[in-house]
Amino acid sequence: MGAHVVRALGDSGIGGVVVLDDLSGGFRSNLPDDVTFVEGSVCDHVLLSRVFERHRPRFVYHLAAYAAEGLSHFIRRFNYTNNVVGSVNVINECVTHDVECLVFTSSIAVYGAASPPMHEDMPPRPEDPYGVAKFAVELDLAAARRLFGLRTVVFRPHNVYGEYQNLGDPYRNVVGIFMNQIMSGRPMSVFGDGRQKRAFSYIGDIAPAVVRSAWTPDAHGRIFNIGADREYAVAALAEAVAEAMRVPGQDGGLGPRGRTESRHHLRRD
Ligand SMILES: NC(=O)c1ccc[n+]([C@@H]2O[C@H](COP(=O)([O-])OP(=O)(O)OC[C@H]3O[C@@H](n4cnc5c(N)ncnc54)[C@H](O)[C@@H]3O)[C@@H](O)[C@H]2O)c1
Repeated sequence: MGAHVVRALGDSGIGGVVVLDDLSGGFRSNLPDDVTFVEGSVCDHVLLSRVFERHRPRFVYHLAAYAAEGLSHFIRRFNYTNNVVGSVNVINECVTHDVECLVFTSSIAVYGAASPPMHEDMPPRPEDPYGVAKFAVELDLAAARRLFGLRTVVFRPHNVYGEYQNLGDPYRNVVGIFMNQIMSGRPMSVFGDGRQKRAFSYIGDIAPAVVRSAWTPDAHGRIFNIGADREYAVAALAEAVAEAMRVPGQDGGLGPRGRTESRHHLRRD
């Protein structure tokens, strides 16, 4: 998503973009050449202070996270360190350096097991460490807003896909997982009969709104669910990915449906 946010900033005429990323899940080659790139982690608060001190950003978009929701139960310490402590470091620097607005990508995971459609006024009840971490950061942002007047915008996306997505992580991003399986000649792992439905959000529809929110006063202090609301069966998604990659679908010989399926295909992130 960050690679698209950077481009949407360019489209809005915003220059001087500085990107900090530890490259744990992203790639430098996904970014345009004209950004200033700093390789490092938001968990490194000394580095973060130096970057803020040096570049004095007006707007900050905090998208760094490890977003493997299903896996988060098994990487609890890493999940909270990376996704909460790292975020708190960003919030601290935004307060200290009088950033005009901090935009944070939370997740629909804050709603836990609630049934769609989700509305922003539904009480968050996250059910896994990833969702708990996102909600914790939302609460900390609210505290920073109340006490220090930090302007914030929170987005809760779901199932985002698009160019530059990491195809190599088996724990997240079902479109990327299907593409990877096709490219390595394996069957797409569709759970059961694949009739379970999910809405999938194209990043190109999301990034411009995320970017503009920073200088849109009506958005400040607010939380937005963002993404598609039209649902598709996971089996239909598998067929669409196969068609786009010009290979036969599951029924055309790639492998049987109903194989053992990992939980990540069913989770919402
Ligand atoms: N893609 C989705 O469906 C989705 C849905 C809801 C929320 N989100 C949230 O949106 C944000 C972006 O998601 P994405 O899909 O682009 O994920 P992604 O994994 O493609 O991008 C996350 C980026 O953060 C970087 N990163 C991770 N930990 C870091 C750290 N400690 N310091 C610096 N950089 C770090 C990674 O290297 C990667 O480039 C995340 O916060 C994610 O939780 C994504």
